[in-house]
Amino acid sequence: MMRLAIIGFGSVGRGVAAAIAEKSLDLEVTAVADSRSAVTDPDGLDLLAVLDAKEKTGKVGSEGVGAMDVIRDGRFDVLVEVTPTNALTGEPALGYIEAALAASKYVVTSNKGPIALKYPALAALARQHGVELRYEATVCGAIPIINALKTGLAGNRIERLYGILNGTCNYILTRMADEGLSYQQALLEARELGYAEADPTYDVKGIDPAIKLVILANTVFDMNVSLDDVSITGIDAITTDALALADEQDCTIRLIGEIIPSKRIMRVSPRLLSKDHQLVVHNTLNAVTVETDLAGDITMIGRGAGSMETASAIIGDLLFIRDHHVKRT
Ligand SMILES: NC(=O)c1ccc[n+]([C@@H]2O[C@H](COP(=O)([O-])OP(=O)(O)OC[C@H]3O[C@@H](n4cnc5c(N)ncnc54)[C@H](OP(=O)(O)O)[C@@H]3O)[C@@H](O)[C@H]2O)c1
Repeated sequence: MMRLAIIGFGSVGRGVAAAIAEKSLDLEVTAVADSRSAVTDPDGLDLLAVLDAKEKTGKVGSEGVGAMDVIRDGRFDVLVEVTPTNALTGEPALGYIEAALAASKYVVTSNKGPIALKYPALAALARQHGVELRYEATVCGAIPIINALKTGLAGNRIERLYGILNGTCNYILTRMADEGLSYQQALLEARELGYAEADPTYDVKGIDPAIKLVILANTVFDMNVSLDDVSITGIDAITTDALALADEQDCTIRLIGEIIPSKRIMRVSPRLLSKDHQLVVHNTLNAVTVETDLAGDITMIGRGAGSMETASAIIGDLLFIRDHHVKRT
């Protein structure tokens, strides 16, 4: 049985716990921490009870025990790091991930901050301690794009990768085009439905998809770049008139993130696409096309966010570690 510590028990952490409680995956959670409390049991926690406690009290367990205590002292094989993203410092996740790797624990994260800022150093730390850091959930939610690129398409040269990497922007553009809503009206609706953050800057200015490009560039294409290397235009200046004009030509507008590895091109910008283009997906969906030399073009479409959708990517990484590294009887 592979043992996990889950740090962060919000939408994603609870999704992971609920999926593990429901399925027989040979995974046991021995510790859970949120921002104010923690609960541990070396013999395995009752996850339904922890989910219930979180719902009723807002905490998973006792105050006075913190996430770092769990990482330092807990009995677990893999840290599941699912705290909020900070794209400027990577903290607190960066410190948690470094501490776990230094203690020879595997790490699975959905947190873009540490991966975009420090992947090469974290991967080196993992290697030094004989463990692995996996991060499928950081890009395109449920779509297994990183594993597809690193494993399934491993022998291919990737000529270009482009697609819709932000569901919030896609929702706003879809609603503006379909219902004639203004940008502000569509943004308000996205907020009311919980798709957009109270501060939607990262999404609508195109920073979130740019961070995902940096993750792909550095971890799959070895490009050694930062956010400053991405040319970024968001969707906040798109007008209903622009979408109506596009519609007259049987086109629409989508926010496209693109990497051309051989030219070191990375850009995020609104593009005019024919309505029957494979990337014209609706509402909060993500879609990504990979142009390769051997396999031709491959397009994957799916949910880019959500509790269970993100949990799906995390569990895929966990089962990889279970089967390749930690197998216990
Ligand atoms: N939601 C998605 O669909 C999605 C998709 C892909 C990636 N992600 C990424 O996954 C991560 C988690 O997202 P989420 O939606 O689950 O966020 P969330 O609902 O805001 O939950 C964050 C959790 O982290 C806890 N936390 C905050 N500061 C902490 C600290 N210093 N130490 C320990 N725990 C702390 C919070 O504690 P409290 O409960 O006490 O507040 C909360 O339980 C983020 O990095 C996000 O960008 C999310």
